[in-house]
Amino acid sequence: MFNFSKLGIPVIQAPMAGGINNPRLASEVSNAGGVGSFGFAYSTPQKISEDLAATKVLTKGPINANFFVFSPVDLPEQAIQEKAIEALKNLPIKGEYSVSVPQAPFYPNIEGQLNSVWEHRPEILTFHFGIPALSLIEKAHSLGITVGITATSLKEARAVEKAGADFIVAQGIEAGGHRGMFNPDEVDEKLSAMDLTRLLVKECSIPVVTAGALMDGVDIADALKSGAIAAQLGTAFLCCDESGASPAHKEFVLKHHSRGSVFTTGFSGRPARGIDNEFIQLMDGKIVLPFPIQNTMTASLRQLAGRANNGEYQSLWAGQDYSRTRRLSAQNLMMALKEELLIALG
Ligand SMILES: Cc1cc2nc3c(=O)[nH]c(=O)nc-3n(C[C@H](O)[C@H](O)[C@H](O)COP(=O)(O)O)c2cc1C
Repeated sequence: MFNFSKLGIPVIQAPMAGGINNPRLASEVSNAGGVGSFGFAYSTPQKISEDLAATKVLTKGPINANFFVFSPVDLPEQAIQEKAIEALKNLPIKGEYSVSVPQAPFYPNIEGQLNSVWEHRPEILTFHFGIPALSLIEKAHSLGITVGITATSLKEARAVEKAGADFIVAQGIEAGGHRGMFNPDEVDEKLSAMDLTRLLVKECSIPVVTAGALMDGVDIADALKSGAIAAQLGTAFLCCDESGASPAHKEFVLKHHSRGSVFTTGFSGRPARGIDNEFIQLMDGKIVLPFPIQNTMTASLRQLAGRANNGEYQSLWAGQDYSRTRRLSAQNLMMALKEELLIALG
């Protein structure tokens, strides 16, 4: 098990799929005493290998590789497909984009992706949306890799523990990005990060990492006081100089504070929290295809918005407290977090 107590600062820079993580960001965080992460959910084995190899040149510190546990999915009937296409066509955005229903396979093969992890052996491997095949957890352990899995409820946490994972990432309702529920059709208990942390620390026997709207050292101290071994921060790193978030994403995080953040299934087919924008408003109540089919269907639209620097049609994933995001280098952010944490812990 990776020794979190040896970290210079008990912070995991959250995995953030979609081009936000990169070797510079991950290595700066790791060199500053935290854990740098990669959200490799949609990455090819080659890209995963390249990123992990490039990061190893930049740091000897700990790195976390993160993957989604995609559930098998079928295309809904034709009439539903047509309604979902209709909802995405003719949105009031300038420029051309295409909308078509993808063909299977709808998501990458995790065994193929993990071959790159077995080759490069980052210290930590984490999963979101569920529990991977137990053989993959065993393989990670045989290579000395520590395994963490997201839980949003006690029921999920108990399953994580039973699967033999080493730690639980307790994701509160405030967290930016995709809600890590195993089954998004189940009732969401919507526990806050701190309530969930306290519950899991009390009820589970493996360590807990807190995630959700942790923006400064005082928040990290609260997580540690609640019994967590570390804090996972996503939004706080979005506007770092090294972050690969798009310019519009950074601008909305830093300036558009009155928008607030909301959950939408419109971009990907699964609930995710992002800054409220025109796309989310227009897609409210519309038919969407299941995850990740909807994600592939909105790719061309999101790319167009990216090229045009139009934040209204990008997925601006961000946590509930995004207005407290600072614009600093990753190293300076880590230094600030450490100073604040030391003061908060007295
Ligand atoms: C832009 C963005 C992308 C994210 N992508 C992932 C991901 O690929 N895998 C994952 O496990 N969590 C992902 N998350 C969720 C984080 O792991 C974490 O739960 C969240 O960032 C914590 O809330 P905060 O953003 O308020 O700090 C993402 C979060 C954001 C903001």
